[in-house]
Amino acid sequence: MRTISIINQKGGCGKTTTAVNLSACLAEKKRRVLLLDLDPQGHASISFDLQPETLEHTIYDAFSPSKANSFKWDDILIELDNNFYLAPSNLLLSFLERELSDFQGKERILLGRIMELQEPFDYIIVDCPPSLGLLTVNALCATSEAIVPVEPSFFSLHGLGKLLETVRLQEEKTGHIIKVQALATIYDKRTRFSRELLREIQEHFGENLLTTTIRMSVKLKEAASFGQPITVYDRGGIAYQDYRALAAEIILQEEHPAQKHEEYSLKPQRSEEGVVFRYKNPEANRVMLAGDFNNWSPDEGVVARKRSDGVWEKVIPLDPGTYQYRFIVDGKWVPDPNNPIKADDNLGGINSVISVN
Ligand SMILES: Nc1ncnc2c1ncn2[C@@H]1O[C@H](COP(=O)(O)OP(=O)(O)O)[C@@H](O)[C@H]1O
Ligand SMILES: [Mg+2]
Repeated sequence: MRTISIINQKGGCGKTTTAVNLSACLAEKKRRVLLLDLDPQGHASISFDLQPETLEHTIYDAFSPSKANSFKWDDILIELDNNFYLAPSNLLLSFLERELSDFQGKERILLGRIMELQEPFDYIIVDCPPSLGLLTVNALCATSEAIVPVEPSFFSLHGLGKLLETVRLQEEKTGHIIKVQALATIYDKRTRFSRELLREIQEHFGENLLTTTIRMSVKLKEAASFGQPITVYDRGGIAYQDYRALAAEIILQEEHPAQKHEEYSLKPQRSEEGVVFRYKNPEANRVMLAGDFNNWSPDEGVVARKRSDGVWEKVIPLDPGTYQYRFIVDGKWVPDPNNPIKADDNLGGINSVISVN
């Protein structure tokens, strides 16, 4: 599964347009896609002809402590098309920052929720709000990639330093690396100014500037106002061409899709008996689990079993909180290869980290 945040604290640079139309084009290419609207303005939701304020369940439910026990993905997911789902948002989301001000682990709520998704997606695309606040930080914690749409205008390069610094800080804090790529949007190649700015974006991002450029097209504005993605509204113009090319470029970066799928299924997951940790190694003689939750005593309090496909499963009931852990594979202490969230153990080693909500 690939998880991609669409981020830029600047409004109007094409985040929502990219999130919506990239998602639609990926779904058209037979990928199973979840588009997550993380902007209280609900523009991605409106782009699919929804009226956010009338929705009973939104992505707010995934964050709010008051909904912690009743939250179900099934309640909020809207099926837009075959293999294409939306988690909508509305203005309620703007209250979260205050509601969660004293909440421990508030940056990792979305990550925890994504881990609870029963059915894996090929792509989760997160449309972020125009800020670097709690919602964007949650998106960065929960995704392993980010696309930064940059519109070639005078102010567009201004905030890029701050944005990249935020991403790096987040990486340092969590030990979780985010691959950042820039995308030139609303591009008018007729102006010299645009061409010069494109060159400047390239200087910032080097090879991490996506080859595809999204050209200026009034059809994208129209499509949004009709509540349709470009795949439905107009398949004859440059807007469709460009977003299809972007989807193709993103798909080309996929590595061994089958392997990715397996990685996802091996991530820690919540079950009725507790959290299930999994480590695949058919050759190992003994795999144990140790962490904060059992005072680092290997397999203490753990229900252990080895599956016939060589996956060692460790189940332990956990109260809400954030825990560090490692597997012990034939005596060697190793972090969880299928969990991207890691932390320095202050002794020169790396632990894996899990948040339970
Ligand atoms: N390639 C494009 N050509 C023309 N207009 C665009 C293009 N991309 C986005 N827009 C328009 O620009 C405005 C801002 O885009 P939007 O995706 O909502 O930005 P953000 O989510 O970053 O605030 C919208 O009216 C949108 O329709
Ligand atoms: Mg937007």
